[in-house]
Amino acid sequence: MSRATGSAPRPVPLREVETPTVDRLETSIAEVDRVLGGGLVPGSVVLLGGAPGIGKSTLTGMALGNLAAAGRRVLYVSGEESAAQVRLRAERLGEDALGVPVIAETSLEAVLAALEAERPDACVIDSVQTLHAGEMNGAPGSVGQVREAASQVMEAAKRLDCAAILVGHVTKEGSVAGPRALEHLVDCVLMFEGERERSYRTLRALKNRFGATSEVGVFEMRSGGLVEVEDPSARFVGEASGAAGSVVLCAMEGTRPLLVEVQALVAPTELVPPRRIANGIDRNRLAMVIAVLTRHAGVALGSADVFVNVAGGVRVDEPGADLAAALALASAHRGQPLCDPEGRPLACFGEVGLTGELRHVAHPERRVAEAAKFGLTPVLAPPAARGLDGLRVVATLRDAVRDPTSRRQARKAA
Ligand code: TYD
Ligand code: MG
Repeated sequence: MSRATGSAPRPVPLREVETPTVDRLETSIAEVDRVLGGGLVPGSVVLLGGAPGIGKSTLTGMALGNLAAAGRRVLYVSGEESAAQVRLRAERLGEDALGVPVIAETSLEAVLAALEAERPDACVIDSVQTLHAGEMNGAPGSVGQVREAASQVMEAAKRLDCAAILVGHVTKEGSVAGPRALEHLVDCVLMFEGERERSYRTLRALKNRFGATSEVGVFEMRSGGLVEVEDPSARFVGEASGAAGSVVLCAMEGTRPLLVEVQALVAPTELVPPRRIANGIDRNRLAMVIAVLTRHAGVALGSADVFVNVAGGVRVDEPGADLAAALALASAHRGQPLCDPEGRPLACFGEVGLTGELRHVAHPERRVAEAAKFGLTPVLAPPAARGLDGLRVVATLRDAVRDPTSRRQARKAA
């Protein structure tokens, strides 16, 4: 006797599966569209995370304003601020942002009803933590409530073919239970980061079902809203101090090279264990770099507080930043600047291995080309796969930190 009752579905070879081409909704904020992989996908759900005050409401308000101006139906659901407060922000952003229809609502049922009635092409829920489902226990913002709200909005978005952006607050430590619990649910997770006191912001995709996760957009918060920074390298190199403890890192942000200044401070301490503070680079990698400097490069930082900072509030999440952190630390430790006699900062990139060797990282040619644009060659770097102009190759961290002046001699000899 057969146990199967229903008729068996017929598997289809993948190459015969139809893939409808979707028209993306372009927000006309080039950096946002690029990070999304070409704009919002109708029916998809994007989670936009970031610390309070970083500019999430500003960014989403601008995006909806542009979409509305392009003739799309949009809806802004504000659970945090009154409609009047949202209007005040929009006044700073301009005419297009003032054209966005808004409801100030925290009841999930009411929001779903509004989506049903308005049928927007794109909507923003600001924030998902403020929504509460009537039939569920738990305070707004609890994991249960946030999940319920997100999954119901998602269901509505798919059904109504509406692109939904869920705004979620994340504390600096990334703790708050809410948004993190949604990452597996949504189609795309964007993080908006930066230091509140500084004007630079970066937007990056942590997850994207419809595009790459490596793209990063750089913005500056101005009086009239967020402005895209078109040549961030020029900004950051221009601001590089050239003082002891400063070095320029040739980083890759997605497919784009980006030059950033890495700064370090080394100060004697009585604290046990001493402080290790990293801003913009990974803490664990900093700990590793300090250990390798001590064991393999003769730079002992065991009894010193150590601070490493990527200037401008940018985050660099790649092993290629190791060498920059190490050189900045060695320079700070000795009190010797790394810039050349004309005051040009030293540029570098490379991963540091546990045995003190420098390791190859991706796209050396693009990194060097970016540094060359600003006259920062030769770039201190590990051996590249093939010969590359503009590199000063070093094989070990010991060689890299040994003599900051050898670079000047190398340039004179060249
Ligand atoms: P906001 O978008 O409200 O942050 P979030 O929604 O992430 O909490 O914006 C935060 C800050 O941005 C706020 O301190 C004011 C500032 N801001 C500007 O500097 N210029 C502007 O045009 C706007 C709208 C805001
Ligand atoms: Mg807000």
